[in-house]
Amino acid sequence: MEYTNIGGVKIEKTAALAPMASVADRAYRIMAKEYGACYVVGEMASCKGLCYNDRKTAELLSVTPGERPMAVQLFGNEPEFVKGAVEIAERFQPDIIDINSGCPMPKIVSGGAGSALMKTPELFGDVVRAAVEAAHVPVTVKIRAGWDENSINAVEIAKIAEQSGAAAVAVHGRTKTQLYAGKADWDVIRAVKQSVSIPVIGNGDVSTPELCREMYEYTGCDLVMVGRGSYGRPWLFRQIREYLETGSYSPDPTAEEKLGIMRRHIRLIVEDKGERVGMKEARRPASWYLKGMKGAAKFRDMCSELTTLDQLERLIEKIKEQQGEHENEDL
Ligand SMILES: Cc1cc2nc3c(=O)[nH]c(=O)nc-3n(C[C@H](O)[C@H](O)[C@H](O)COP(=O)(O)O)c2cc1C
Repeated sequence: MEYTNIGGVKIEKTAALAPMASVADRAYRIMAKEYGACYVVGEMASCKGLCYNDRKTAELLSVTPGERPMAVQLFGNEPEFVKGAVEIAERFQPDIIDINSGCPMPKIVSGGAGSALMKTPELFGDVVRAAVEAAHVPVTVKIRAGWDENSINAVEIAKIAEQSGAAAVAVHGRTKTQLYAGKADWDVIRAVKQSVSIPVIGNGDVSTPELCREMYEYTGCDLVMVGRGSYGRPWLFRQIREYLETGSYSPDPTAEEKLGIMRRHIRLIVEDKGERVGMKEARRPASWYLKGMKGAAKFRDMCSELTTLDQLERLIEKIKEQQGEHENEDL
């Protein structure tokens, strides 16, 4: 097994889970880790929110043993708040602290944080330096290719990150204005890799083991990060690991196995957030697991009404029955 070293944190060179606010919560991260993700990043938390003692923001920072190695992610554009937030974040003992410089959401960029920092390179450097000076763990940054197609500056920004003391840089190969549409530009990731000597994490459009290997080979990156490709497929991390190690990988789980994996994922959500909030939040991930199953459209609609774990059990039974009935019909 090869490793990448991020400021002294040793990470297996397979696939990491990308930060995804409202998606990659603790349950999602634990599932990803159980299936072989080598590293996970938490949901972004506001530096200002943390400094003003917002409880819900602070909850985003907690790290459990099953998630390590794990980074918590902060967003902000005022060095003083960034410094304060790093001090608060360190109470949760993350392995790494990541600074979000890629988020395109209006509510984040309008305040000058997230990908807006790529338009203010000097301030970006100040933010990273403030975090590095306050932190006792490695600080990394996550950037995009640039603000728009006319201002691709990932290389410049990555160099500033390195000069400001960042231990690694993750590059999502899209611009801010692309949001999540179009194709991620892996050439930008490659260019960043060739320009800095800190580890580079490649990200964008990796959804299969083959694409993961291609990302490693094409960009020369030190680590690959997978986001949307893992929706309802935590086993993708295992398949990637197998493929990188042996050149082949096990097939997707059967429908029945997938339902068991979905059950575990939803139980983890409920453990973490309680049944009332948890079941509401579980509706979306539940529907992802049904992809490709017989009657998926109908069962997805039923997912949108889930409110209790008992209902979930009944739904799982119904889905299983339908898979079985159809198998017999096929005979
Ligand atoms: C629902 C959603 C939430 C996201 N939240 C964050 C976030 O909190 N911080 C961050 O740096 N990136 C965030 N991202 C971006 C992802 O980390 C990743 O860069 C992007 O999805 C591209 O990778 P992919 O093609 O593998 O999905 C988010 C993406 C999605 C789809």
